Amino acid sequence: MLESVKNLLKEVDSFTPKSKEELESFRLAYLGKKGKLNGLFSAFKDVPNEQKKEFGQAINTLKQNAQAKVDQYKDTFNKEEKDNDIDLTKPVTLDNLGSRHPISLVKNQIVDIFNRIGFTVSEGPEIEDDWHNFSALNLPEEHPARDMQDTFFIQTNPDVLLRTHTSSVQVRYMENNQPPIRTLSPGRVYRNEAISSRAHCIFHQVEGLYIDENVSFADLKQALLYFAKEMFGEKTKIRLRPSYFPFTEPSAEVDIYWGLKNESDYRITKGTGWLEILGCGMVDPNVLENCGIDSKKYSGYAFGMGIERIAMLKYGVTDLRLFFENDVRFLKQFSSL
Ligand code: PHE
Repeated sequence: MLESVKNLLKEVDSFTPKSKEELESFRLAYLGKKGKLNGLFSAFKDVPNEQKKEFGQAINTLKQNAQAKVDQYKDTFNKEEKDNDIDLTKPVTLDNLGSRHPISLVKNQIVDIFNRIGFTVSEGPEIEDDWHNFSALNLPEEHPARDMQDTFFIQTNPDVLLRTHTSSVQVRYMENNQPPIRTLSPGRVYRNEAISSRAHCIFHQVEGLYIDENVSFADLKQALLYFAKEMFGEKTKIRLRPSYFPFTEPSAEVDIYWGLKNESDYRITKGTGWLEILGCGMVDPNVLENCGIDSKKYSGYAFGMGIERIAMLKYGVTDLRLFFENDVRFLKQFSSL
């Protein structure tokens, strides 16, 4: 009798359940109403007196060990079950949200600012022909100003190229629409330049075009002042420097006053406090005629800016290449949440 209790004890100690079901049948077999322990307890009264002590101790140990085994594994199986339980009503944690690219953020902001004064967006192809990228813009073949924009040609055909500016989109727009015209052309452009912290062979521009009767240089200046204030703050000052572009006459480059507060301001403004942000001018009458618009009746202004340049100023980015490397450590700083 005592011997069989000792065997049961060994059995209990070496038992390792593999499932919740196995554990449950073990529990029933030992601790259930009709289980082995109850059987042993009722047999206790028939045990000879001199063995009662030892027998009693043995079945108590058996009971305790069996109960301990059940307790030990009960939690393991319950926990596993919990892990597999998917609660579809739980609130979601949004810890892996993406972020917008800084170039998109700045582009959207520029578009937004000009939308408010009536400009709408127009788009065109990145692979262009000579006419839309150069000739229509008063840059005939052999014109020296073509060198201002080192061009990627596609294969050996000099008529097929990657656009060097989005002015090409404006040519297409003028060919297909009569004034009044107020259009904004954001997009990617290409130039054959050595890649450095300040230049890249791919970058982005936003160019604007406004054509109507009696459009003057004063209109251009007001539109640009409005833009500069919206983009860089109410106190922003601008200045226009005479410049040259083949498609505008007169032409100007626009600077904003950046200030000279610290060493980096001295460096980026070359000690002047002023920073160039865009080129602009009154559309050359030749360009209007090339695009089928009566230059006696209509006049207009155009401007163009590099989005990377604005983004670098706005976010204090000192290396332009960061915009193209898609390093998530850089990009996630622009999370919109
Ligand atoms: N297209 C010029 C450039 O890419 C920018 C510009 C646009 C200048 C319109 C004047 C007017 O550099």
